[in-house]
Amino acid sequence: MTFPFTRMRRLRRTPALRELVAETMLRPSQLIHPIFVSNGSPQPSPVASMPGVFQQPLETIESDVEDALALGIATVLLFGVPDEKDTEASSAWDESGVIQQATKRLKDRFGDEVTVITDTCLCEYMTHGHCGIAIGGSVLNDPSVELLGRVALSQAAAGADMVAPSAMMDGQVAYIREVLDEGGYDHVPIMAYSAKYASSLYAPFRDAAESAPSHGNRSSYQMDYRNRREALRELVLDVGECADMVMVKPALFYMDVLREARNLTDLPLVAYSVSGEYSMLKAAAEKGWLDEEAVLMEYLFSLRRAGADAIITYAAKEAARWLNRQ
Ligand code: PBG
Ligand code: ZN
Repeated sequence: MTFPFTRMRRLRRTPALRELVAETMLRPSQLIHPIFVSNGSPQPSPVASMPGVFQQPLETIESDVEDALALGIATVLLFGVPDEKDTEASSAWDESGVIQQATKRLKDRFGDEVTVITDTCLCEYMTHGHCGIAIGGSVLNDPSVELLGRVALSQAAAGADMVAPSAMMDGQVAYIREVLDEGGYDHVPIMAYSAKYASSLYAPFRDAAESAPSHGNRSSYQMDYRNRREALRELVLDVGECADMVMVKPALFYMDVLREARNLTDLPLVAYSVSGEYSMLKAAAEKGWLDEEAVLMEYLFSLRRAGADAIITYAAKEAARWLNRQ
């Protein structure tokens, strides 16, 4: 028998050697912490399908953000759970809407220490729960885009550091860019939910945001999970519409898309590890079937390895705690 000259194990021998040749890094500042803000209840109310996640009143978001900052997480993504919904999502662009109030509060308190990203969509504010204006059975594109422009403008006016259109309406990024620039907010970047798939993994989020569509589903605007090339077309379009950051969502079942997106564009790339991904891991960990810390680390590092610059995850705080211990 001839023994190998090339021995991969030489560089795996000690922890220090392994550390020396580690290719991928993850810092808490690369994590984005989502927050559900509600103006309904005075107390934080737990989301049953997402252990550890709460709908929070305006009164408690400051301490949540304070904790995040202490852990090194400087970016939050705000979702509104308004007490009033209608068919034109008025509470989404109301200057005293729940997101606008939350944004002001956080910027007043923390200034530039925190980066506030606001989700720019209509579903949480619509009685029917669709991401656009729904007439009959269909969701209209262009009128919805106009409304999204209004929402983005009011979020920027409230002090949002970045807006994140997630409705998957065609042309939304270009139109929001125009509206923001005309309104004096040319310094506010757009994080585009470019490749957002119609996914069953959003189910726990819809509990948290109370945004499940009352009729039909989102397949006429969100992407079909069988498609990969189409995601690249979506990305190219958003790059052309002057998105500042692009996103692939969900993350776990879409790492091929993430890698291709990385190869396609030099824009900062975000992976959104969605609610169902979080709930699956929490459930398995609660049963004692998986080691939560180990799996979460392997998972987040894998998303970085696949090409993500930043990661939106409901486990941002846990992850940061573990990263800071190392
Ligand atoms: C709404 C929105 C959704 C998510 C983020 N923004 C849900 C949806 O499209 O139904 C999903 C997030 C998650 O599941 O964590 N536009
Ligand atoms: Zn939506």
